[in-house]
Amino acid sequence: MGLILLFVLGFCASAVFANDDKIVVCYYGTWATYRTGLGKFDVDDIDPFLCTHLVYAFIGINAEGTALALDPELDVERGNFKNFTSLKEKNPNLKTLVAVGGWSEGSANYSIMAAEPEYRQNFINTSLAMILEYNFDGLDVDWEYPNRRDTVHGEDDIENFSTLLKELREEFDNYGLLLTVAVAAVEEAAVQSYDVPSVAKYVDYIGVMTYDMHGAWDSVTGHNAPLFISEGESAENESTLYNVNNAVQYWLSAGCPPEKLVMGVPFYGRTFNLSDPSVNAPNSPSNGAGLAGPYTAESGFIGYNEFCYILQNESSWTVQTDNLAKVPYAFLDYNWVSFDNVESMTAKVEYANSFNLRGIMLWSIETDDFHGLCGEGTFPLLNTINTVLAEGSTEARHNNPPHHHHH
Ligand SMILES: *[C@@H]1O[C@H](CO)[C@@H](O)[C@H](O)[C@H]1NC(C)=O
Ligand SMILES: *[C@@H]1O[C@H](CO)[C@@H](O)[C@H](O)[C@H]1NC(C)=O
Ligand SMILES: *[C@@H]1O[C@H](CO)[C@@H](O)[C@H](O)[C@H]1NC(C)=O
Ligand SMILES: *[C@@H]1O[C@H](CO)[C@@H](O)[C@H](O)[C@H]1NC(C)=O
Ligand SMILES: *[C@@H]1O[C@H](CO)[C@@H](O)[C@H](O)[C@H]1NC(C)=O
Ligand SMILES: *[C@@H]1O[C@H](CO)[C@@H](O)[C@H](O)[C@H]1NC(C)=O
Ligand SMILES: *[C@@H]1O[C@H](CO)[C@@H](O)[C@H](O)[C@H]1NC(C)=O
Repeated sequence: MGLILLFVLGFCASAVFANDDKIVVCYYGTWATYRTGLGKFDVDDIDPFLCTHLVYAFIGINAEGTALALDPELDVERGNFKNFTSLKEKNPNLKTLVAVGGWSEGSANYSIMAAEPEYRQNFINTSLAMILEYNFDGLDVDWEYPNRRDTVHGEDDIENFSTLLKELREEFDNYGLLLTVAVAAVEEAAVQSYDVPSVAKYVDYIGVMTYDMHGAWDSVTGHNAPLFISEGESAENESTLYNVNNAVQYWLSAGCPPEKLVMGVPFYGRTFNLSDPSVNAPNSPSNGAGLAGPYTAESGFIGYNEFCYILQNESSWTVQTDNLAKVPYAFLDYNWVSFDNVESMTAKVEYANSFNLRGIMLWSIETDDFHGLCGEGTFPLLNTINTVLAEGSTEARHNNPPHHHHH
C-alpha cells in the first residue's frame, strides 16, 4: 500500500514537473501605461504566475548597434525595467527578457549592424550591459525583418543574422543568459529572411509570429490568425494560404525542431470596413480599416479586452465561428472584426500540443481581459493557454515513461 502510494505520488510529481518544459512567453507592450481608463496596464497589473517568460517590448539600437532604451523616462528614470525584472521576487521561476526591435524600429539599422563586425560586437556589448544592469535573463531579437522592408544589405542579411546570433550565443553562454528570436511566420515571408537551421541552432527558442495574416491592408475580409483554411478560400494551392497550420508546418519542415518552436497567438483582433454590409462572410469585399479600440486607438486593430467590452455592451453584433479556420469573427453594419477568444485559443493550444511544440507565445498580455469584466474571470485567454498546455503535458507524460529533462 505504502509502495503504491509512493509510486502514485512520484508519478504525479513527475507529471507536474513535465509541465515545466512547456513555456508561456508573454510580451508586454510597455506603452500600455499611457492608455487611459480600463486600458491602462502597468507592470503591477502583470500576474507573474501565468507566464514562464515575460518579454519587455521594446528597446532599440542606433546605426552603430548601440542598444538604447526607447522610452528612457519610463524604462530607466521611472524604474520600469527594474520593476519588471523584480517580478522574479514574486515568482522565482519566472524568466524576464528584453526584446530589441519590433515593427516601428524598421530593418535598416539592424541590417547595417549585422553586416559590420565592429557594430555587431558593440551591439553584443551594449545589450549585454543593459541585461546585466537591469537583471534581465536574456535577449529576444525582433529584427523585422532581415532582407525586407528598409533593409540596407538585402539578401546578405540572412547570413549576417545567423552570424549575429552565433556571436550573441557565444557571449551569452558566459553568463547563462537566454537568447531568443521572434520571426515572420508564413513561408512566403520567412524564406526571404532566415536560414532556419542556423537560427534554430543558436537560440533557446524561436517565437513564430503566427498572426497578422490578414488585415485591413487586404481587399477582402480575413482572419488575423486562422488555424486552417478559411471559409471562402479556395482549396487549390492550399499549402500557400496564410494560416497558422501552414506556417508551423513550414518552420518544422525547414529545420526548426518542435522543442524550439513557440507558436504565437494574438490577444487582439483586426477590423475591416465592409464594402457591402449584407456581404459579411470571411473573404467579403472590404474598404479598408474598420473601427479602432477605445484604448489602443488604432483603426484596423482592437484588443481582445476592448472587443469583449463592446460585445458585452452592444447586443446588436453577430458573432460567428469559421468552422474551417477555427476562429470567430463578428459583424455589425459596416464593421467586420476578426479576433480570438477562449474557444479559438483552446483549439490553437491543442494544436500546439499535438505537434509537441515547446509552448505558446502571445502578443500581448495587456490586451487580455485583465480586469475580468467579460464574465470569464481575469486574464481569460492567458488562463486558457496555461490550462490547455498543462493538459498536453500531462497527456504526453502518460504516453511516455517519466525521465528527467535538462534545459
Ligand atoms: C537608426 O539609427 C539612427 C542613429 O544612428 C537613428 O537616428 C534612427 O532613428 C534609427 N532608425 C530607427 C528606425 O530607429
Ligand atoms: C516602480 O516601482 C516603484 C516602487 O514600487 C514605484 O514607485 C514606481 O512608480 C514604479 N514605476 C513605474 C513606471 O510604474
Ligand atoms: C566589447 O567589450 C569587450 C570586453 O569588455 C572589449 O574588449 C571590446 O573592445 C568591446 N568592443 C566594442 C566594439 O565595444
Ligand atoms: C554579410 O553577408 C555577406 C553575404 O553572405 C557576407 O559576404 C559578409 O561577409 C557578411 N558580413 C559579415 C560581417 O559577416
Ligand atoms: C494555384 O497556383 C497556380 C500556379 O501558381 C496558379 O496558376 C493558380 O491561379 C493558383 N490557384 C489559385 C486558386 O490561387
Ligand atoms: C465605413 O464605410 C462607410 C461607407 O463608405 C463609411 O460611411 C464609414 O464611415 C466607414 N467606417 C469606418 C469606421 O471607417
Ligand atoms: C459599457 O457601457 C457603459 C455605459 O456606457 C460604460 O459605463 C461601461 O464602462 C461599459 N463597459 C465596458 C466594460 O466598457
